[in-house]
Amino acid sequence: MLAGRRIILGVTGGIAAYKAVLLCRMLVDAGAHVTPVMTESAQKFVGKATFDALASEPVRTSIFDDLDPIPHTTLGQTADLVVVAPATARSIGSYASGISDDLLTAILVATRAPVVICPAMHTEMWEHPAVQDNLETLRSRGVTVVAPEEGRLAGGDLGSGRLAEPEKVFEVITELLTNGDFNGRRVVVTAGGTREAIDPVRYVGNRSTGKQGYAIAEAALARGAEVTLISTVDLEAPLGVDLVSVESASEMHEAVLERADADVIVMAAAVADFRPLDVSDSKIKKDGGPPKLVLEATVDILSDLGSSKLPGQVVVGFAAETDELVAHASAKLERKNVDVIVANDVSAPEVGFAHETNEVTILEADGCLRHVSLRSKREIADEVLDTVAQILAR
Ligand code: CTP
Repeated sequence: MLAGRRIILGVTGGIAAYKAVLLCRMLVDAGAHVTPVMTESAQKFVGKATFDALASEPVRTSIFDDLDPIPHTTLGQTADLVVVAPATARSIGSYASGISDDLLTAILVATRAPVVICPAMHTEMWEHPAVQDNLETLRSRGVTVVAPEEGRLAGGDLGSGRLAEPEKVFEVITELLTNGDFNGRRVVVTAGGTREAIDPVRYVGNRSTGKQGYAIAEAALARGAEVTLISTVDLEAPLGVDLVSVESASEMHEAVLERADADVIVMAAAVADFRPLDVSDSKIKKDGGPPKLVLEATVDILSDLGSSKLPGQVVVGFAAETDELVAHASAKLERKNVDVIVANDVSAPEVGFAHETNEVTILEADGCLRHVSLRSKREIADEVLDTVAQILAR
């Protein structure tokens, strides 16, 4: 249910910290990748070793003891969700004021992922206007607050301020992580340049690094899709993505056809148009002089998908162009009978192959056309998926 979702579990200093242990276990059992982050005072209530043993990664406690020089930004950027349970009045106050006085509050300020705050404190503190105002500020910024319950508090007192039960927090997290606009959708993405063998050691290839395809797979996963990434490159796939490694255009074709009933297929791969007609079984020796390479056409996977498109299915192609971007891309869209073409001018600076950024024009079959200026490949991925989500909703 939460397979591969990256969750940061922030634990601050309160008697209820023991309940975070149960929450950690539930999240890990549901397939989430849990990174616990404890404040100094949290460690007075529960030992680090407990979380070390239960979570997916060792506990993090400080910005400065980490191998990563910027753990707060790295953790904040890669998280799908940050939950703080229990959250003390101090941690809530720091977060609401943007004060990053420890690793956890620094992550909270650095992240763009959804945040769930589960306050736990004595009734007098819970009812204090400062705490209530801070929570209101956080709610107005989109933070989810799981209200505490009434019951026994530390020292035997009774009242409101008791941390919500782990089952309740788990339910809120699941709801937040599974209500993406691609929830329940099967998405297939291809990535990288295909390699067409000349002999066992040589191939005909291209400059594609697969980064844009990987970014689309990651974005689709974050938006709730079940994602298969068919890739020719040796990059680690995002956790939770089903990775299928292929090399040639024909292997990619076969892998795509096996999954051709997906809701969405995004052909981000740079598939070779031609391959050597004869592949030598043994290494071609240079004594024989340079061999003549005779090429033959490969199957156009995208055209194949376009000609057998299922009702309601959305097929997306890419178009790498160096001139007359829109004219060539819209001709491709029509010729290959696809729903969307993402066109990029690969001759422009910082655009396309191997770059971290991209700039594209997104063309739809109904003639709609949208230019997306230079930005990270992950942001481009979300723009492409926004278009796909609109088509799926029609
Ligand atoms: N594509 C494909 N199978 C091929 C070649 C390309 O599925 N054998 C897909 C690519 O994955 C991409 C789209 O077709 O989504 C367009 O690729 P591109 O190389 O820009 O266009 P081509 O069709 O190869 O046309 P041209 O080389 O003439 O620009």
